[in-house]
Amino acid sequence: MKVSAQVPATIANLGCGFDCLGLALPVYNTVTIEETVLPGSGIEINILNDDNEEDNLSNIPRDKTNIVYKAIELLYNYIGQSPNELKISIKTGIPVARGMGSSASVIVGGLIAANELLGRPADTAVLLSIATEIEGHPDNIAPAILGGVVLSDWEDDGSVVTSKLPWPEDWMVTICIPDYELSTGISRSVLPKEVPMKDAVYNLRHCGMFVEAIHTKNEELMKLSLRDRLHQPYRTKLVPGLTQIMNELKHTDGVLGCVLAGAGPSVAVIQNGTKNEEIKEIVHSAWNNINVNAQIYTLPVVQEGAKIIL
Ligand code: HSE
Repeated sequence: MKVSAQVPATIANLGCGFDCLGLALPVYNTVTIEETVLPGSGIEINILNDDNEEDNLSNIPRDKTNIVYKAIELLYNYIGQSPNELKISIKTGIPVARGMGSSASVIVGGLIAANELLGRPADTAVLLSIATEIEGHPDNIAPAILGGVVLSDWEDDGSVVTSKLPWPEDWMVTICIPDYELSTGISRSVLPKEVPMKDAVYNLRHCGMFVEAIHTKNEELMKLSLRDRLHQPYRTKLVPGLTQIMNELKHTDGVLGCVLAGAGPSVAVIQNGTKNEEIKEIVHSAWNNINVNAQIYTLPVVQEGAKIIL
């Protein structure tokens, strides 16, 4: 039997919501799991590009240290079993190490597909909890599973509590993807172990405002709420041009805010859909000046999360 799951890209943090806010975008990875019939054939992991060709260049592990395998193993352990003969194929449509949740998407894809293969022993709460344990934070995992814009909480007992927020349909995301990678590990390594109390309080109140801005569809409140003092100030040095882009977009009509996408290096511009070309031009020109090429797309937030496909 063979099962495939398609999972959206996600943008975590959204400025004020470090490690707890994220949204889903209509760009996808697909994970296919097949129980092989030959006993003893072990675990086989293939990475395929958009044209279904084997991608031999990526340095994604093909053995049991692969995060997709690790997630699937936890699911099998949850029902008292261990995976034996499995073929895992990962088809990548989401750029890797760009802040678009590619790792969360393959973890979730592997889990959803394996859960289907096993007859759905795990409910959404269990899948959220296993996926978050592997990823280390729930902000990409939750929207990858649920779609939309999600606020998530990871409790000490490992449970993940989520709330899907009613994102206005006409608020779009212009995702600006530079032509270089930045691993989450490196991007987290520049963060301090402790932050000043005033910065923690700053984010606390902006995160509250973010939720209120969505519920009331209030653009002025949203503009204020996307600000952050917990991670972006430390990461700007890893993303040349970010400060300039943020400053220039402050004065552009229709822009509600500009944030680092997840751990970067992509930049997400939250906007109301009225000035797509102007935004693209500003970002291209800022990065062109420092020889950074970028792909820029304006996308809606997708409300559907991971799903089984034929
Ligand atoms: N919240 C995470 C971070 C997202 O900013 O490090 C990246 O996976």
